[in-house]
Amino acid sequence: MADPVVEISGLWTRFGPTVVHRGIDLDVRPGEVLGLVGGSGSGKTTLLRQMLGLERPWRGTVRVFGIDVNACSRAQLASVRNRWGVLFQNGALFSALSVYENIALALRELKVVDEDLIHDLVLSKLRMVGIEPQHARKTPAQLSGGMIKRIGLARALALDPELVFLDEPTAGLDPDRSESFVKLIQELRRELHLSVVMVTHDLDTLVSLSDRVAVLCEQRLLAVGPLREITEIDHPFVSNFFRGERGQRALEVLEDLQRLMPI
Ligand SMILES: Nc1ncnc2c1ncn2[C@@H]1O[C@H](COP(=O)(O)OP(=O)(O)O)[C@@H](O)[C@H]1O
Ligand SMILES: [Mg+2]
Repeated sequence: MADPVVEISGLWTRFGPTVVHRGIDLDVRPGEVLGLVGGSGSGKTTLLRQMLGLERPWRGTVRVFGIDVNACSRAQLASVRNRWGVLFQNGALFSALSVYENIALALRELKVVDEDLIHDLVLSKLRMVGIEPQHARKTPAQLSGGMIKRIGLARALALDPELVFLDEPTAGLDPDRSESFVKLIQELRRELHLSVVMVTHDLDTLVSLSDRVAVLCEQRLLAVGPLREITEIDHPFVSNFFRGERGQRALEVLEDLQRLMPI
C-alpha cells in the first residue's frame, strides 16, 4: 500500500496537569476521507493543529508526507505547507480583507507575484466552490455563514493541495447548506483526488463523506475503521453518538446506500 500521507505515532498531549491524548497512533491513507469524531474537548482540534505543525505534542511524532512537522526546518515545513490546505472551524477569514484578498493572500505567501495570474487563480477557485465573481470585493461581514465556509474552502484549495484539513466544515450551516457543502466536497474529491482529514459532529456529513472514522475517547483512539464497523462497537460514547435519534436517521441513510451499492 502507498505510504500514508499523515502518520501519527505514540502521540501524547498535555496542557499543564491535563492529559488530552495518551498514546495516539493514526495513519491517513492517500485519497481517503478520514472522519475524526469525539466529544467536545476530546482533543480533535488539538490533533489537527499538531498535524499542521502549529502545536507540538508532549511525546510522539506527527509525519506529514514523510516529514516530522514538529522537528523539521522552517524550509521543510514551508514546503509541506504548500501541499495542504486548511479550513478552520469558523472559516477563519480575515475580516478586514475582501474575499478576493483572503484567497490571494495564500498565493502571495507562495511568492506568486503576477497579478493577472493571481486574479485568474482567485476567480477559478471561487468558481470551483460556486461563489459568483461579484462577491469577490465583499468582506466576510457581508456574507452568510454558508458562503464564508465555501470561501474558506476556496482559500484552502488555493494552492492545489493534495491534502485538506477540515474542522467542522458543516457546523452552524442549515441542513440544505450543509448538504450542498457535502456535495461540493464530494465533487472536489473526485476531481482533485484529495486526501481529507475532517473533524465533524455532524452524522450526515460523516456518513456522506468518510471512508474511515477515527473515534477519540478518554484520551485514546477508541477505534479506526469504516463507519459500519465503528457503529457496532459496544461503548457508551459510540452508542450515544450513533444511536441517538439523529444517529439513527443518518444510519438508515447509510443502510439504504449499502443496499443500493453493496460492497
Ligand atoms: N493551548 C491550550 N492550552 C491549554 N489547554 C488547551 C489548549 N488547547 C486546547 N486545550 C484543552 O485541550 C482540550 C482539547 O481541546 P480541543 O482540541 O479544542 O478539543 P475538541 O476540538 O475536541 O473540542 C480541552 O480541554 C481544551 O481546553
Ligand atoms: Mg474543536
